[in-house]
Parts: sequence; structure tokens; C-alpha cells
Amino acid sequence: MIKINEHYLKLQASYLFSNIAKKVGDFQKANPDKDIIRLGIGDVTRALPQACTDAFHSAIDEMATDSGFRGYGPEQGYEFLREAIAKNDFQSRGADISADEIFVSDGAKCDSGNIQELFTTDARIAIPDPVYPVYLDTNVMAGRTGDFADGRYKGIIYLDSTKENNYVPSLPAEKPDLIYLCFPNNPTGSTITKAELKTWVDYAKENQALILFDAAYEAFIRDESLPKSIYEVEGAKEVAIEFRSFSKNAGFTGTRCAYTVVPKECAAFDAKGGKQLIHPLWNRRHCTKFNGVSYPVQRAAEAVYSEAGKAQAQELVSGYLKNADLIASEIKNLGYGFAGGENSPYIWIEGKRDSWEFFDMLLSKAGVVCTPGAGFGKCGEGYIRLSAFNSYENVEEAMKRIKAALA
Ligand code: MLT
Repeated sequence: MIKINEHYLKLQASYLFSNIAKKVGDFQKANPDKDIIRLGIGDVTRALPQACTDAFHSAIDEMATDSGFRGYGPEQGYEFLREAIAKNDFQSRGADISADEIFVSDGAKCDSGNIQELFTTDARIAIPDPVYPVYLDTNVMAGRTGDFADGRYKGIIYLDSTKENNYVPSLPAEKPDLIYLCFPNNPTGSTITKAELKTWVDYAKENQALILFDAAYEAFIRDESLPKSIYEVEGAKEVAIEFRSFSKNAGFTGTRCAYTVVPKECAAFDAKGGKQLIHPLWNRRHCTKFNGVSYPVQRAAEAVYSEAGKAQAQELVSGYLKNADLIASEIKNLGYGFAGGENSPYIWIEGKRDSWEFFDMLLSKAGVVCTPGAGFGKCGEGYIRLSAFNSYENVEEAMKRIKAALA
């Protein structure tokens, strides 16, 4: 008899963003004339940078000739892209990361979900609350948790991120093996200082733990004192893996390109306490389960690092930051507390009521989609998240409607 992986049965209903999409779809069906503005899922809306589409087109033209055609590429990504990433995203900021420590992939969601495969089922996991649901769900699927009760999975070390700690969790009392961190944070929009991040790096070193650092939103950092990469912190290469994406900085959510950094000295331990390097293991997994990102997409991603590409990506991000600024100031005028909106595309709002109730009210009264904070964890109850990914005109209109709905 074929038996299923029963850990899947512990998962809560559907994936948060699928659940929201279904609710919005049902609402639209029932109200076909209602104009809906989406400030829910963090999906970009503006066109790809011209430098990227130019590179995309010319790579496709190459593929149309026998001499320029490419079949399977290197699973880890083409050298031209890995070199450009290492130089521009790390070496230029004093972080000593080399091209062969970069693994190009089709998404930070997949990588941050898949990485847990490398670690034992009994690894103790520390996960922030609220949190991007992928970290938690993939560990539930892998059997690292007990059942769900009272808003939480048993067996997880939750790192509460609250107004009291400025949405930057403190070191846990219980000792974890694997620690998930994301800054600028999804969903709270909070940022972490270099000194705070160093506390985590030092803690991981002292406790033979490993940090999984999601930096998908680093492009939104405008405060130069804030770290964009965990490798800007001394010693992080031994104890941290970092996830990056072209989705939010260059509009690649539909194009699909991201990367994971696994430094050569980064290690975990075997049953006998022997040090095992992670790089060859992730490489083994990548080669076995992945055949690389398409050549034209990697050429388009490489173009993000051209002079024109850098300027165009900056301009995209600045546009979204202008939206975030507008949302934050309107929310403040309405007398609601919030975090984020600066160095981040997300605004985390104290809703003064149940967060799904707030979601339903905004959808029905204002035709605006937000993300209910409770969907990100127990500490998110009472909050909603607004995303700045839309046009300025739509954000202006959404804020007018929100104001009227809350009046
Ligand atoms: C979000 O809205 O939290 C993100 O868009 C989800 C993602 O990047 O997968």
C-alpha cells in the first residue's frame, strides 16, 4: 500500500497567497464591476528594465542560430552571471564572495524551501513570527515539527518579532541548529543593523548553528549604514547561507532568476560531530535536481549589472519606495501605528482589529487587497501588510479608498 507523507496533513489549509487569490477571485466574480487594487502579494507590476529586455532579445536571437545555440548550461549558472553577481553584489561592498560560491536558480522561494533537505530531520529550527510562510511550511513537510495547535507548530523555536523589539527578534532561550532570518523583513518591513546581525553570527558560531539569511529585499535599502548582505559581517561565511533574487529589484517575478550563496567554508556537522562542508552537498543536490536557468534569462539577469541596467533597476525600486512612502504617510495620518515603508516595500500596520476581518473589510468597502498579518503567524494577528508594488496612481487611489473606508 502506498502511504503518503503524513507531515503534509499537518499543514494549514492552503498556501497563504493561494488562499488570498481565491478569496479575491470569488469576490471579483460576485462583484464583476468592482475595480480591485492589489496591494497584497509582493508581486511587481512595472516592466522589465530595457537593458534586460535588450539582452533577453539578443540571447534569443543567438539561440536561433546553430552557432549561438545553447543546450544544457552549467547547473550552477553561467560564469558570466556568477562573476557579475560576485563582483557587484558582494566584492563591491567588501564581502569576499567568489563566483563559484554562487548558485543561480529559478527562485529564492524554491531555494529557501529546498535548502532544509541538507539537514537532519531532528534539527531544531528557529523561525521568526511573523514570517514568510515558505520557511515554516517546508520544515513541516519535512517532518521537523509536531502538530499545529493554538496558532503554532509544536517543536519549532519561534522568534517573536513584535513592536516591543522593533520587529528584530532577540536570541532564543532554547538552542536552535538552523536559524531563519530575513532582512529587510517580509512581512514587517523592519531592517537589522550590522551590530544586531553580528550578534546572530556570533551566536551561530558559538552554538554550531547555521543561519539561513533571506536578503530578497536588499535593493530597497537606502540607508547606507544597513547591511545588504550577511557577509558584510565578519565571520558570517562560516555560518551563513544567503538567498537573493532578481524578482523585486529588477521585476523578474515572472521571468524567474535568483541565486543562493554557499561560501566554501560554511559547514554543518555529521553524527560523529565531524565538520561537513555544505558547498559540495548543495552542489550535489543542485546537479541532481536542477538543470539550470535558461540562457536568455541569465543574460537578462546579467544586464541588471550593466551601467544602464543598474540605473533602470534603481529607478524601478525608487518608484516602489515612493509608493511605500505615500502609504506610510497616509497610514500615519489615519492614526494607525506601522513599521516598514522605509528601506522596504512593505508597510506593516497595526490594524486595531482581527486581521482577516480587516482584510475582508478593505476588500468589500475599498476594493483593496492587503495581506492579513495572521497569515504570517500568531504574532501577526491584529496586523495587515500593504505592499508598495503597484503604480503610483493605483496606490494614491487605494489610499483614498482606504481613508474613506476607515472614516
Ligand atoms: C510576498 O508577498 O510575501 C512575496 O511576494 C512572496 C514571494 O516572494 O514569494
